[in-house]
Amino acid sequence: MPTPAAVVAGLGTCLPAEEFDNASLAARLDTSDEWIRTRTGIAARRRAAPDVSMRDLACEAGANALRSAGLRDVGGLILATTTPDRPCPAAAPEVAQRLGLGPVPAFDISAVCTGFLYAVTTAASLITAGLVDSVLVVAAETYTRIVDPSDRGTAVIFGDGAGAVVLRRGSSRERGALLAFDLGSDGSGKDLIHIPGPREQGDGPRWFSMAGRKVYLRAVEQMTASALRVMKDCGWSPSSVDALVPHQANARIIQAMAERLDVPPERAVCALDRVGNTAAASIPLALAEALRTHQLQEGARTVLTAFGGGLTWASAALTWPRLSAVSSEI
Ligand code: UT7
Repeated sequence: MPTPAAVVAGLGTCLPAEEFDNASLAARLDTSDEWIRTRTGIAARRRAAPDVSMRDLACEAGANALRSAGLRDVGGLILATTTPDRPCPAAAPEVAQRLGLGPVPAFDISAVCTGFLYAVTTAASLITAGLVDSVLVVAAETYTRIVDPSDRGTAVIFGDGAGAVVLRRGSSRERGALLAFDLGSDGSGKDLIHIPGPREQGDGPRWFSMAGRKVYLRAVEQMTASALRVMKDCGWSPSSVDALVPHQANARIIQAMAERLDVPPERAVCALDRVGNTAAASIPLALAEALRTHQLQEGARTVLTAFGGGLTWASAALTWPRLSAVSSEI
């Protein structure tokens, strides 16, 4: 019996034009191209130019997703970011206004690298509750502005970028229908990924910090368990999943998850070599790359899963729809 569902109808991305590779980091940090490639799978990442804001990346990715969906209007906009250009107000209303969406509900979500899937789940809930017919979900990040350039533990990993999807109301029978969700958090790990506030740090610099090894282990554990829960909800065995699209933090995390889940390694999408870890934006960017390389095809049983600061984790399952992603550089 088909039930109302939110359906993925469009996918857009935007990357800053400037790329910086491992050699440029090795020239100023105690690291090497070899260490970064073997420990993370990353060869290069992007950096937004000084006059490009997170909101500019978000607008471009959002406009591209609308083009991909063939729509001019949607009923709401949710924006996931860890790197707002300013603490207040949220960026989503301005992005909605710049995209000409009219007086729609628009708000930001802060769930670090899990933000995109938290936003997708919230958007799908608004749609299936009947409040809106469609939502533009955008994830945009400018991590190169918050990582300490002298910290080899984070500066080699993160990059800037944005991705977006359009969700519209449809039925669970359609390709593109979001069929299952899983969300969770554990605040006891709040210090593992952290940017201090003014009262915590005084006048010193307030850089992003991450306890890499601990986060690594928790990421494998939680994404694996969360992905299994959505597969179970759909009645899918891991071996029947066509595309596992995890948050793109580290190629070794992705391989470890595929092994634990017993998903064939070639079905685990790993698309971080030229963009690095783009936090909330990593899943839509990985989806676009997997489409480009035909790793993701229409009808594919697709599982998305993410883990990030908070700590937070989330997964979603869908059958992949017929669509063409629209991508640009800024
Ligand atoms: O996106 C949100 C979620 N984030 C993640 O999921 C990221 C999770 N963490 C990771 O991806 C990995 O933990 C890192 C890439 C951050 C680090 O890799 P690792 O294999 O866990 O290395 P490690 O932290 O255990 O460090 C091993 C060694 C240490 O040296 P000693 O103590 O063994 O002498 C580090 O100091 O590697 C050293 N190291 C480096 N060496 C060269 C750490 N970073 C670097 C570097 N270049 N960039």
